[in-house]
Amino acid sequence: MGLWMLGFAILGLLVAWGLRKCPWIASRPPGDRRGTPEEGAGGSGTGSRGPTVGSCQLVGKPSALAQALLKNFGQLACLEAGGWSWKAWPNLQTAVQFLWPPDRPLEFARDHLQLSDKGLVALDWVVGPLSGKAKAAAPGLDAAVLVVVPNATGKITRNLRQLCQLALREGCYPVIFNRRGHNGCPLTTSKLQPFGDPADLKEAVAYLRFRHPAAMLFAVSEGSGSGLLLSYLGECGSSSYLRGAVCLSPLLKAQEWFERETSWWYRWSCLLSQKRGISRYVNVLKEVTEVDQALRSRSLRAFEEALFCHGKGRNMTWEAYWDRNDPLRDVDEVAVPVLCLCSADDPIRGPPEDTIPWELFQSNPYFFLLLSPHGGHCGFFGEDAGTSWGHSATLEYFRTVAEFFHTEERVHRRSLCLHHRRPHPEASPPARLPLRETFSWQRSYTR
Ligand SMILES: *[C@@H]1O[C@H](CO)[C@@H](O)[C@H](O)[C@H]1NC(C)=O
Ligand SMILES: *[C@@H]1O[C@H](CO)[C@@H](O)[C@H](O)[C@H]1NC(C)=O
Repeated sequence: MGLWMLGFAILGLLVAWGLRKCPWIASRPPGDRRGTPEEGAGGSGTGSRGPTVGSCQLVGKPSALAQALLKNFGQLACLEAGGWSWKAWPNLQTAVQFLWPPDRPLEFARDHLQLSDKGLVALDWVVGPLSGKAKAAAPGLDAAVLVVVPNATGKITRNLRQLCQLALREGCYPVIFNRRGHNGCPLTTSKLQPFGDPADLKEAVAYLRFRHPAAMLFAVSEGSGSGLLLSYLGECGSSSYLRGAVCLSPLLKAQEWFERETSWWYRWSCLLSQKRGISRYVNVLKEVTEVDQALRSRSLRAFEEALFCHGKGRNMTWEAYWDRNDPLRDVDEVAVPVLCLCSADDPIRGPPEDTIPWELFQSNPYFFLLLSPHGGHCGFFGEDAGTSWGHSATLEYFRTVAEFFHTEERVHRRSLCLHHRRPHPEASPPARLPLRETFSWQRSYTR
């Protein structure tokens, strides 16, 4: 096992070496400082689509929340590429996050949740290890529940473990959502979860809401898990119960991604773990899907088609499948702020010019893109492989959003009080100014 991983790491190293010459890996000059409010005027190249923070760019519609994010991200020293010693090796960062064993395994408490069709999903509450002293609960995130959505293969990667550990230390309650049949969660029906079908996640979040009515809920997805999270946010709109969401290295143009196919070693590792996952359930799945065809498939597209488009009594075209599963199909309904953390050298997603829907971030006030020049797929290594600055940025984002809504609600409540005391609205102009300012984010949404 260890030898195998070493082999993989060396392979990654070699590939990284080859890919360094790729045209899309643009790096910014090291002297580039944060906070220059030059607005994204489009243009080609990854340069300058939004203001810079550290070595990254924040792309999004200008709003009060965008300002707050710019300010708080600007104070994060870890966004400076100067401290990223792994920046030249995107493939190695990716391979380490997917294949390297964790430093310390997580301790879980598992809840099985029975869904309305008698299917099962598993919710893993992360309860340890609590390394070092727990920080004095940082204001804002204390006792928030963080729903973690793994990528489409369902594996709990090193990346997710590190994120959960950090979140735990900062006073959150991380809980991992395991799809049907994933990660030791038994498959009790003959249904697997398609790429962007949020029905199960809906029931899980509703259950979390019921169990913890007072807690703030946030969600974070890894890699292709964004397909599920964004579908959920789109379908549920303003009744999603979530306060904010982060997608780490999302695949936003999912259908194109399946059609284009990534390099063979990612395809192979992704296919292998998915095939291993379903091979336990061949007999059950045979009744409804072309499971043998899926096990023989040599591309991710063929695998997906065999499992979800064809089968007994089912003949769905690839296009029809994506009409129902595209993560961005209901994107206009999304009603919570979403941060997508992407790196320009993500080897799984591909070159940013073609694989990031720029117009989404430029037109929808709920979507922010933090684009870093380096980081691989879900890597974002800082000084060493033990820390990912992406996790610090994720928690900082949630903190900013929590604070933002807190202030907004307080101001709103105060203005209501003032309004009650003074029956003449024209008598209280001073109270309205700050209100207008904080609500500018909301207003820019309603246009
Ligand atoms: C998901 O994770 C698995 C295992 O960690 C990895 O092999 C695979 O490449 C990942 N897939 C995507 C699309 O991120
Ligand atoms: C599915 O439908 C298409 C046309 O709609 C047809 O060409 C194809 O043979 C059908 N496949 C199966 C397995 O029924």
